Amino acid sequence: MLKLPLTEEEARDAVIVALDCDRDEAFHLADLLAGKARWVKVGMTLYYAYGPEMVRAMHDRGFKVFLDLKLHDIPFQIHGAARSASMVGADILSIHGLGGADMVAQARAGVEEAAAEREGDRTRLVAISVLTSMDQEALASIGVDAPVADEVARLAKLAVGAGSDGIVCSPQEAADMRALLGPDALIVTPGVRPAGAALGDQKRVATPAAAIAAGASKLVIGRPITQAEDPAAAMDAIVAELTQA
Ligand code: C5P
Repeated sequence: MLKLPLTEEEARDAVIVALDCDRDEAFHLADLLAGKARWVKVGMTLYYAYGPEMVRAMHDRGFKVFLDLKLHDIPFQIHGAARSASMVGADILSIHGLGGADMVAQARAGVEEAAAEREGDRTRLVAISVLTSMDQEALASIGVDAPVADEVARLAKLAVGAGSDGIVCSPQEAADMRALLGPDALIVTPGVRPAGAALGDQKRVATPAAAIAAGASKLVIGRPITQAEDPAAAMDAIVAELTQA
Protein backbone atom coordinates (compact mmCIF):
# COMPACT_ATOMS: atom_id res chain seq x y z
CA MET A 1 0.00 0.00 0.00
CA LEU A 2 1.38 3.42 -0.94
CA LYS A 3 1.70 6.26 1.54
CA LEU A 4 1.91 9.93 0.56
CA PRO A 5 4.20 11.64 -0.12
CA LEU A 6 5.59 9.08 -2.58
CA THR A 7 9.25 8.82 -3.50
CA GLU A 8 9.97 9.76 -7.11
CA GLU A 9 10.50 6.07 -7.87
CA GLU A 10 7.11 5.16 -6.39
CA ALA A 11 5.38 8.03 -8.17
CA ARG A 12 6.72 7.12 -11.62
CA ASP A 13 5.79 3.51 -10.99
CA ALA A 14 2.25 4.45 -9.91
CA VAL A 15 1.20 6.12 -13.17
CA ILE A 16 -0.01 4.09 -16.16
CA VAL A 17 -0.35 6.20 -19.30
CA ALA A 18 -3.38 5.11 -21.33
CA LEU A 19 -2.48 4.93 -25.01
CA ASP A 20 -5.96 5.39 -26.46
CA CYS A 21 -4.68 6.26 -29.92
CA ASP A 22 -3.37 4.75 -33.14
CA ARG A 23 -0.02 3.03 -33.60
CA ASP A 24 1.94 6.04 -34.87
CA GLU A 25 0.69 8.22 -32.04
CA ALA A 26 1.48 5.48 -29.52
CA PHE A 27 5.07 5.31 -30.72
CA HIS A 28 5.33 9.09 -30.77
CA LEU A 29 4.09 9.25 -27.16
CA ALA A 30 6.45 6.45 -26.17
CA ASP A 31 9.36 8.48 -27.53
CA LEU A 32 8.21 11.59 -25.68
CA LEU A 33 7.69 9.72 -22.41
CA ALA A 34 10.84 7.58 -22.44
CA GLY A 35 12.60 7.89 -19.10
CA LYS A 36 9.59 9.71 -17.62
CA ALA A 37 6.81 7.13 -17.58
CA ARG A 38 7.27 3.49 -16.59
CA TRP A 39 3.89 2.06 -17.55
CA VAL A 40 1.56 2.26 -20.53
CA LYS A 41 -1.91 0.83 -20.97
CA VAL A 42 -2.67 -0.98 -24.21
CA GLY A 43 -6.41 -1.40 -24.61
CA MET A 44 -8.60 -3.30 -26.99
CA THR A 45 -8.59 -0.70 -29.76
CA LEU A 46 -4.83 -0.75 -30.13
CA TYR A 47 -4.49 -4.47 -29.43
CA TYR A 48 -7.10 -5.66 -31.89
CA ALA A 49 -5.58 -3.46 -34.59
CA TYR A 50 -1.90 -4.23 -34.06
CA GLY A 51 -1.83 -7.30 -31.84
CA PRO A 52 0.90 -8.67 -29.58
CA GLU A 53 3.46 -6.67 -31.54
CA MET A 54 2.23 -3.57 -29.74
CA VAL A 55 3.01 -5.08 -26.33
CA ARG A 56 6.43 -6.26 -27.45
CA ALA A 57 7.20 -2.88 -29.02
CA MET A 58 6.39 -1.06 -25.78
CA HIS A 59 8.52 -3.50 -23.82
CA ASP A 60 11.39 -2.99 -26.22
CA ARG A 61 11.11 0.73 -25.48
CA GLY A 62 11.43 0.04 -21.78
CA PHE A 63 7.79 0.31 -20.68
CA LYS A 64 5.80 -2.10 -18.57
CA VAL A 65 2.40 -2.88 -20.04
CA PHE A 66 -1.08 -3.01 -18.56
CA LEU A 67 -2.90 -5.05 -21.19
CA ASP A 68 -6.52 -4.05 -20.69
CA LEU A 69 -8.36 -6.79 -22.57
CA LYS A 70 -11.05 -7.44 -19.93
CA LEU A 71 -11.12 -11.18 -20.55
CA HIS A 72 -14.46 -12.93 -20.07
CA ASP A 73 -15.11 -16.43 -21.42
CA ILE A 74 -15.30 -20.04 -20.26
CA PRO A 75 -12.49 -21.05 -17.88
CA PHE A 76 -10.70 -23.24 -20.44
CA GLN A 77 -10.52 -20.42 -22.95
CA ILE A 78 -9.43 -17.88 -20.33
CA HIS A 79 -6.64 -20.16 -19.16
CA GLY A 80 -5.21 -20.08 -22.67
CA ALA A 81 -5.88 -16.38 -23.22
CA ALA A 82 -4.22 -15.33 -19.97
CA ARG A 83 -1.28 -17.59 -20.69
CA SER A 84 -0.89 -16.12 -24.18
CA ALA A 85 -1.18 -12.53 -22.95
CA SER A 86 1.43 -13.26 -20.32
CA MET A 87 3.79 -14.88 -22.83
CA VAL A 88 3.50 -11.80 -25.02
CA GLY A 89 4.64 -9.66 -22.09
CA ALA A 90 1.62 -8.23 -20.28
CA ASP A 91 2.75 -7.10 -16.82
CA ILE A 92 -0.82 -6.51 -15.68
CA LEU A 93 -3.85 -8.06 -17.40
CA SER A 94 -7.52 -7.27 -16.82
CA ILE A 95 -10.30 -9.85 -16.56
CA HIS A 96 -14.01 -9.64 -15.74
CA GLY A 97 -15.06 -10.75 -12.26
CA LEU A 98 -18.43 -11.58 -13.79
CA GLY A 99 -16.85 -14.67 -15.34
CA GLY A 100 -16.94 -16.26 -11.89
CA ALA A 101 -14.46 -17.90 -9.54
CA ASP A 102 -13.50 -20.78 -11.84
CA MET A 103 -12.73 -18.38 -14.67
CA VAL A 104 -10.57 -16.19 -12.42
CA ALA A 105 -8.76 -19.24 -11.05
CA GLN A 106 -7.99 -20.42 -14.58
CA ALA A 107 -6.66 -16.98 -15.51
CA ARG A 108 -4.35 -17.23 -12.52
CA ALA A 109 -3.25 -20.72 -13.55
CA GLY A 110 -2.55 -19.43 -17.07
CA VAL A 111 -0.32 -16.57 -15.93
CA GLU A 112 1.48 -18.82 -13.46
CA GLU A 113 2.26 -21.31 -16.20
CA ALA A 114 3.56 -18.56 -18.42
CA ALA A 115 5.75 -17.12 -15.66
CA ALA A 116 7.29 -20.55 -15.07
CA GLU A 117 7.93 -20.97 -18.78
CA ARG A 118 9.36 -17.48 -19.23
CA GLU A 119 11.23 -17.71 -15.92
CA GLY A 120 10.10 -14.15 -15.28
CA ASP A 121 7.77 -12.16 -13.08
CA ARG A 122 4.20 -13.37 -13.04
CA THR A 123 1.64 -11.21 -14.84
CA ARG A 124 -0.62 -9.66 -12.25
CA LEU A 125 -4.39 -9.86 -12.72
CA VAL A 126 -6.90 -7.12 -12.02
CA ALA A 127 -10.63 -7.75 -12.17
CA ILE A 128 -13.34 -5.49 -13.49
CA SER A 129 -16.48 -5.62 -11.35
CA VAL A 130 -19.43 -3.58 -12.65
CA LEU A 131 -18.59 -1.42 -15.67
CA THR A 132 -18.92 2.24 -14.70
CA SER A 133 -21.08 2.70 -17.79
CA MET A 134 -23.77 0.63 -16.05
CA ASP A 135 -26.11 2.18 -13.51
CA GLN A 136 -28.76 0.57 -11.31
CA GLU A 137 -31.27 0.47 -14.15
CA ALA A 138 -28.80 -1.15 -16.54
CA LEU A 139 -27.96 -3.75 -13.90
CA ALA A 140 -31.65 -4.48 -13.36
CA SER A 141 -32.07 -4.95 -17.11
CA ILE A 142 -29.61 -7.85 -17.03
CA GLY A 143 -31.32 -9.39 -14.01
CA VAL A 144 -29.11 -8.05 -11.20
CA ASP A 145 -31.25 -6.46 -8.51
CA ALA A 146 -28.51 -5.85 -5.91
CA PRO A 147 -27.46 -2.25 -5.31
CA VAL A 148 -24.51 -1.32 -7.55
CA ALA A 149 -22.13 -0.89 -4.58
CA ASP A 150 -23.03 -4.34 -3.22
CA GLU A 151 -22.49 -5.93 -6.62
CA VAL A 152 -19.11 -4.19 -6.99
CA ALA A 153 -18.05 -5.45 -3.54
CA ARG A 154 -19.31 -8.98 -4.22
CA LEU A 155 -17.44 -9.28 -7.52
CA ALA A 156 -14.26 -7.70 -6.14
CA LYS A 157 -14.16 -10.11 -3.22
CA LEU A 158 -14.97 -13.08 -5.40
CA ALA A 159 -12.23 -12.21 -7.91
CA VAL A 160 -9.51 -11.61 -5.33
CA GLY A 161 -10.59 -14.70 -3.41
CA ALA A 162 -10.24 -16.76 -6.59
CA GLY A 163 -6.74 -15.56 -7.48
CA SER A 164 -6.92 -12.08 -8.95
CA ASP A 165 -4.22 -9.77 -7.58
CA GLY A 166 -6.64 -6.91 -7.40
CA ILE A 167 -9.29 -4.90 -9.13
CA VAL A 168 -10.02 -1.87 -11.28
CA CYS A 169 -12.32 0.73 -9.72
CA SER A 170 -13.01 4.45 -9.67
CA PRO A 171 -11.12 6.61 -7.18
CA GLN A 172 -14.44 7.09 -5.36
CA GLU A 173 -14.61 3.37 -4.66
CA ALA A 174 -10.92 2.96 -3.82
CA ALA A 175 -11.18 3.53 -0.06
CA ASP A 176 -14.00 0.99 0.34
CA MET A 177 -12.19 -1.50 -1.87
CA ARG A 178 -8.95 -1.08 0.10
CA ALA A 179 -10.83 -1.71 3.34
CA LEU A 180 -12.54 -4.75 1.81
CA LEU A 181 -9.53 -6.32 0.11
CA GLY A 182 -6.69 -5.45 2.49
CA PRO A 183 -3.28 -3.83 2.08
CA ASP A 184 -1.84 -6.21 -0.51
CA ALA A 185 -4.50 -5.90 -3.21
CA LEU A 186 -3.54 -4.16 -6.44
CA ILE A 187 -6.07 -1.35 -6.88
CA VAL A 188 -6.00 0.35 -10.27
CA THR A 189 -8.05 3.51 -10.74
CA PRO A 190 -8.90 5.41 -13.94
CA GLY A 191 -10.83 8.69 -13.72
CA VAL A 192 -7.84 10.63 -12.43
CA ARG A 193 -7.45 14.31 -13.20
CA PRO A 194 -4.69 16.62 -11.96
CA ALA A 195 -6.15 19.80 -10.45
CA GLY A 196 -7.25 22.14 -13.24
CA ALA A 197 -7.12 19.50 -16.01
CA ALA A 198 -10.01 19.14 -18.45
CA LEU A 199 -12.47 16.45 -17.36
CA GLY A 200 -13.28 15.27 -20.89
CA ASP A 201 -16.03 12.66 -20.55
CA GLN A 202 -15.00 11.70 -17.00
CA LYS A 203 -17.64 12.65 -14.45
CA ARG A 204 -16.44 11.27 -11.12
CA VAL A 205 -12.80 12.16 -10.83
CA ALA A 206 -10.10 12.58 -8.20
CA THR A 207 -6.67 14.16 -8.28
CA PRO A 208 -3.68 11.81 -8.39
CA ALA A 209 -2.84 12.48 -4.72
CA ALA A 210 -6.46 11.99 -3.62
CA ALA A 211 -6.66 8.67 -5.49
CA ILE A 212 -3.46 7.42 -3.82
CA ALA A 213 -4.67 8.68 -0.43
CA ALA A 214 -7.88 6.69 -0.96
CA GLY A 215 -5.87 3.51 -1.43
CA ALA A 216 -5.08 3.26 -5.15
CA SER A 217 -1.92 1.39 -6.11
CA LYS A 218 -1.83 2.52 -9.72
CA LEU A 219 -3.46 5.41 -11.59
CA VAL A 220 -4.53 5.06 -15.23
CA ILE A 221 -4.17 8.51 -16.77
CA GLY A 222 -4.81 9.17 -20.44
CA ARG A 223 -5.68 12.52 -21.94
CA PRO A 224 -4.21 14.77 -19.23
CA ILE A 225 -0.84 13.37 -20.36
CA THR A 226 -1.37 12.21 -23.94
CA GLN A 227 -3.17 15.35 -25.11
CA ALA A 228 -0.99 17.78 -23.19
CA GLU A 229 1.09 20.17 -25.24
CA ASP A 230 4.13 18.65 -23.51
CA PRO A 231 3.32 15.09 -22.32
CA ALA A 232 6.66 14.68 -20.53
CA ALA A 233 6.07 17.89 -18.57
CA ALA A 234 2.52 16.78 -17.74
CA MET A 235 3.92 13.51 -16.42
CA ASP A 236 6.52 15.37 -14.35
CA ALA A 237 3.84 17.62 -12.88
CA ILE A 238 1.86 14.57 -11.73
CA VAL A 239 5.01 13.05 -10.21
CA ALA A 240 5.67 16.36 -8.44
CA GLU A 241 2.13 16.35 -7.04
CA LEU A 242 2.62 12.84 -5.66
CA THR A 243 6.06 13.48 -4.20
CA GLN A 244 5.08 16.75 -2.57
CA ALA A 245 1.62 15.80 -1.34
O1 C5P B 1 -8.09 9.95 -20.91
P1 C5P B 1 -8.51 9.40 -19.58
O2 C5P B 1 -7.55 9.74 -18.47
O3 C5P B 1 -9.94 9.67 -19.25
O4 C5P B 1 -8.37 7.81 -19.80
C1 C5P B 1 -8.76 6.92 -18.81
C2 C5P B 1 -8.53 5.51 -19.26
O5 C5P B 1 -9.14 4.66 -18.30
C3 C5P B 1 -9.16 5.17 -20.61
O6 C5P B 1 -8.31 4.23 -21.24
C4 C5P B 1 -10.48 4.54 -20.24
O7 C5P B 1 -10.89 3.59 -21.16
C5 C5P B 1 -10.16 3.87 -18.92
N1 C5P B 1 -11.33 3.68 -18.06
C6 C5P B 1 -12.08 4.74 -17.59
N2 C5P B 1 -13.16 4.52 -16.78
C7 C5P B 1 -13.47 3.28 -16.44
C8 C5P B 1 -12.74 2.21 -16.89
C9 C5P B 1 -11.65 2.44 -17.71
O8 C5P B 1 -11.80 5.88 -17.90
N3 C5P B 1 -14.48 3.08 -15.63
